[in-house]
Amino acid sequence: MTPDLPLVPLPSHVEATGATPVTLGHTGTVTVAVPRGLAQGVTDWFATWARRLHGFDVRVVPHGESRADVVVVVDDPEALGLAHLPGPEGVDPRAAPADERYRLTVRPEGVLVEAAGDEAAFRGLTTLLQLVDPVLTVPGVTIEDGPAYAWRGLSLDVARHFFPPEEVYRVVDLLAWYKLDVLHLHLTDSQAWRVEVTGRPRLTGTHPTATADFYSRADLDRIIAYAAERYVTVVPEFDVPGHVIAAFAAYPELAGGTEPAHPYVRYLDPDVPEAVAFTRDVLHELVDLAPGPFVHLGADEPFGMPVQAYRRFVRDAHALLRSRGKRVVAWQEASRADCLDGDDVLQYWIGPDNPFDVEQLKARAPAALHPVIDDAAGLFALAPQDVPTAAAAGVPVLVSSNTMLYLDRPYADVAADEGAEQRRRRVGHGDYVARSPEQAFAWHPSTLPELAAAGARIAGVEAAIWCETVDSFDDLAFLLLPRLAGAAEKAWTRQVTDWPDHTSRLAPHAGAWSALGFHAAYRAAVANARAVEQGSHDQADALGRWHH
Ligand code: ACM
Repeated sequence: MTPDLPLVPLPSHVEATGATPVTLGHTGTVTVAVPRGLAQGVTDWFATWARRLHGFDVRVVPHGESRADVVVVVDDPEALGLAHLPGPEGVDPRAAPADERYRLTVRPEGVLVEAAGDEAAFRGLTTLLQLVDPVLTVPGVTIEDGPAYAWRGLSLDVARHFFPPEEVYRVVDLLAWYKLDVLHLHLTDSQAWRVEVTGRPRLTGTHPTATADFYSRADLDRIIAYAAERYVTVVPEFDVPGHVIAAFAAYPELAGGTEPAHPYVRYLDPDVPEAVAFTRDVLHELVDLAPGPFVHLGADEPFGMPVQAYRRFVRDAHALLRSRGKRVVAWQEASRADCLDGDDVLQYWIGPDNPFDVEQLKARAPAALHPVIDDAAGLFALAPQDVPTAAAAGVPVLVSSNTMLYLDRPYADVAADEGAEQRRRRVGHGDYVARSPEQAFAWHPSTLPELAAAGARIAGVEAAIWCETVDSFDDLAFLLLPRLAGAAEKAWTRQVTDWPDHTSRLAPHAGAWSALGFHAAYRAAVANARAVEQGSHDQADALGRWHH
């Protein structure tokens, strides 16, 4: 029997053993015995959140030194009897793939965490943090657990809204709390270029065309290190060849003297020498930045770009990245270049049920933009073939379907209080049909019809949040929560869990969200109530918006 415990994502096996519950920290201190050589980040994480969430201090001691409340054992999964748990499917985002399987046993003498590695110990102690109740008691259970998919991520748009490093750290903590292991940073876009590039000083800094809020290399090194200590791998993305208006503003010579069809349409043309040199420089920079095997090439929405030029661009970029020893992850349009292979990852984002309404967009856009809209419609019309093409070439598919996993999709139902309702009307991308968190939860990676039909191998699951409508960290929190927790459950939990069960496990997390620095979250006023006023999102600025 599975007891009703506040565990999200749901572990593989949870069993009530009838053992007497254990109370931790009643003396104000919990002693944790760890094996020699356990990564310091594991116990630092546990100690930090034990104090902030539960108010007790943690004393870390080596095995055998004294009686411990929590004992962490790291050993071979065979020796620990964990080998019967299946390993994860998909693509491992780490440089050195890790075993995350663990067992947590609550016994009268304390809590035992048996882990197949340091990362598994981190996962097990995170589960323990979720298990401790407000009176510091841990119920008598045995939990055996491990992830369904190796790649479990969030793509964060830091281009449309800049989050200073301290705010990115908070996002990393939330990812770790939900056992997610990839932070994909969308570092560049048409609105801003957020990362220093050696030898390209006009992109960032004090130049009049530059983005003033950006990450220095030292900032990114700190973010990468902070994430790595929490077993989160940063996957940096420079979005090319489209989405580059900020770069063109800084370096007009990238145009090679050509005029764009519309100021909103710019792309790096493989026939323009300046654009080729720029691409080469930024790709080398991306390689130097990426802490893991993967770099993200972007490659989505190359509006206005001739197909052959796009193919050449993506093929050349892919070859360069491979020559530097990296593997490529790219948005789904990249499958049209026919160069990705089984070592790469295609990120599937244009979900089914995703009409591109040309007439509606034209009605809202100036006439000069209509040819661009027609061109975009042509690109979207190709989308249904992307996953089948990738699957046929053996390219694993990272599931980011905007239907379920775009967390900037507006919330459908009236929010629980007036302040939240005002925020609900303001945030979220106006071109997406609003959905409730429950609707966004009603799927499972293993049974997605469009992937099954294509015979696609699933790389993992990645939620994405685009920040055109985000003005503050609270706006971000409101869009992430509660949906990120649901996305994490899809990525980690093999079983198909249902919404009432998920939400009953999630409800007690509200206190943890604020302790983690997330002070806003969405809650519907009445479960399943439809928004009184449909279409409440501002549709006026259509142009900048359908252009993710
Ligand atoms: C995307 O939403 N343009 C990847």
